[in-house]
Amino acid sequence: MQEPHTLHYRALPWIPASAGMTPETTKPRVLGAECSPVLFSPQMAETTELRPKKLFIKTYGCQMNVYDSDRMADALAPHGYEPTPVIDDADLVVLNTCHIREKASEKVFSELGRLAEMKREGRDFMVGVAGCVAQAEGEEIARRSKAVDLVFGPQSYHRLPELLARAVSGERVVETEFPAEDKFEHLPQAEQKVIRSRGLTAFLTVQEGCDKFCSFCVVPYTRGAETSRSVEQVLAEARNLVAAGVRELTLLGQNVNAYHGLDARGRSVGLGELCERLAEIEDLARIRYTTSHPSDMTDELIAAHRDNLKLMPYLHLPVQSGSDRILKAMNRRHTVADYRRIIERIKTARPDMAMSGDFIVGFPGETDADFADTMSIVREVGYASAYTFKYSIRPGTPGADMADQVPEAVKTERLAALNQQIATQMRDFGRSVVGRTLDVLIEKPGRMPGQIGGRSPYLQAVHMEGPERLIGSVQPVLIVAAGNNSIEGKIVTHAERKAASLIETQVVAAQ
Ligand code: 5AD
Ligand code: SF4
Repeated sequence: MQEPHTLHYRALPWIPASAGMTPETTKPRVLGAECSPVLFSPQMAETTELRPKKLFIKTYGCQMNVYDSDRMADALAPHGYEPTPVIDDADLVVLNTCHIREKASEKVFSELGRLAEMKREGRDFMVGVAGCVAQAEGEEIARRSKAVDLVFGPQSYHRLPELLARAVSGERVVETEFPAEDKFEHLPQAEQKVIRSRGLTAFLTVQEGCDKFCSFCVVPYTRGAETSRSVEQVLAEARNLVAAGVRELTLLGQNVNAYHGLDARGRSVGLGELCERLAEIEDLARIRYTTSHPSDMTDELIAAHRDNLKLMPYLHLPVQSGSDRILKAMNRRHTVADYRRIIERIKTARPDMAMSGDFIVGFPGETDADFADTMSIVREVGYASAYTFKYSIRPGTPGADMADQVPEAVKTERLAALNQQIATQMRDFGRSVVGRTLDVLIEKPGRMPGQIGGRSPYLQAVHMEGPERLIGSVQPVLIVAAGNNSIEGKIVTHAERKAASLIETQVVAAQ
């Protein structure tokens, strides 16, 4: 079956960074024990004291699901659950599901069919279904699949040990309420060594849910109303991550630039100010955020891109379509002209900002002329990367009942044309940095011996020769070549870097 969408460049924003170009991934984790305020029951004590239990989590979909899977693992660690990459070893299998993709629930049911088969063959383990499909179809999952022991939505992760204990004692648990309590207050922070094992870059959820109700999207129904974590809570988690060695944070939210958390004095703080507070953490080198809605690109946030040097010049700002008629039908709440003006303001504040976006082709009623408008905005903005999707019906959303659904063949044709345009722009963007010296956060050993790899400020994967002891540092790198998915560079001395930036400034001044 054809994938409903094509991915470009790097895994952002709905695809786990760790998954490369595949939209589904399994993320085993190394965990340690830690004191936590999570609820604990007597059954839990009985079941966990005997031997360490093995946890296998399969994560589908977006970066927030990757973050959530780690939080679930952290919540279970104090109760004796260790991660395993081998499903056959697992005492508990959790499917952390995603509803954004086409036929999401069918895929979950077919995975559950495989797990049921394993149980029939005599393997003894618990099965939990989490994430957005669990939230949307809780009872249905429990009813249809005998293999499932517990179903729980994203707002219940802090209660996982208690829910699991109830399931262990024989109850069939379905928990899809939106509880009043703050789950983040109850989720334990990971141990330092566990954070270290997860790498130098980390996700940090600051906002959840969405009030925008775009007519194609399930998120407002599965993740609920927009909520923001408090500034102090975000700072505490960030400090903990940085103390363990994390150098780059990506702040997550379904509509992250609508962030409006309260500070210690009860004042509402926007994302720009939150980034300013985070930038005060000395050893934190870089801040990114995803994903944003154009209407929430405030003056304060745009100014932060000018003033906060830790805020990276890469912005994922989906427009979805270049046609006002389609934007209206999508209930996007802005026009193409509004979007253009926002981009102009952003580029005034940060001229080198690399733009990224999401596009849907074949939304109901989309004509050839509407699609041509999408191609125009793609060319005009000059996206450095983009994610492209064929419209697909999500039951329960207004788009599902719209007349004029576009034939599949037309969607396929438009997607191919759009992808070709974006691929060209991505290549051009890669080539445009050749000859420049960029700061690269060195993240890991490279594929070849003697090589190391990292990311440019524009989120490009960079490979270069260099010793592994540089991992964790930011190095000036002269970019010497650009491929389709990565660029190649050479580490330069700080003196060479200074000279290079003088030349760059002169070139810009001469233009
Ligand atoms: N059909 C196609 N694409 C969709 N997206 C969300 N819902 C749908 C749908 N029903 C895309 C949007 C969004 C991205 C995360 O997924 O482009 O920005
Ligand atoms: Fe979905 Fe629109 Fe909200 Fe984004 S802004 S999560 S596309 S409803």
